[in-house]
Amino acid sequence: MLHNDVKKVLLSEEEIKKRVQELGEAISQDYKGEELVLVCVLKGAVVFYTDLIRAIGNDVDVSLDFISCSSYGNGTVSSGEVRIMKDLDRSVEGKHVLVVEDIVDTGTTLHYLLDNLKARQAKSVKLATLLNKPERRKVDVHVDYNGFTVPDYFVIGYGLDYAERYRQLPYIGILKEEIYQ
Ligand code: PRP
Repeated sequence: MLHNDVKKVLLSEEEIKKRVQELGEAISQDYKGEELVLVCVLKGAVVFYTDLIRAIGNDVDVSLDFISCSSYGNGTVSSGEVRIMKDLDRSVEGKHVLVVEDIVDTGTTLHYLLDNLKARQAKSVKLATLLNKPERRKVDVHVDYNGFTVPDYFVIGYGLDYAERYRQLPYIGILKEEIYQ
């Protein structure tokens, strides 16, 4: 049972649902009448992304695209190196882009990715993240839409993994230390 490895539920299914709805409404206001490319950063963001796109009103002309960056592997610590493993399918030149992430931790991935997308001559590039861990930051990243600011716990669930597990949990939980130590 995955639940048995969870020390504490940090954010419940209901809290997440409410916050995602609020973020969707803010995004809908800001991009009303515009075309918007929503970029999902695989894989952790996928659960947040699929809920967020349905919280964005139909006054926004949304299209979807996916990108994958090199991950930390099975470890819990960032290697500091970023590579694009799967690129977007379509050009973002002249388009408003909103990058959707599950978590900004050291900032390494997002700093690289936002710069990379801006260099493709997008009309604008912004960031929506479900979780933000500012205590861990090594590189500055501007977060435009922040779900929750969280302390430096190892969190899993709602898309976030440890060694590819726990992604299907409907809440954000703190992983028991003995699982990753
Ligand atoms: C996580 C997360 C971000 C990145 C954030 O992805 O989804 O992309 O790490 O960390 P940073 O701010 O220190 O760069 P991960 O590499 O675990 O891959 P995954 O989304 O496939 O689980």
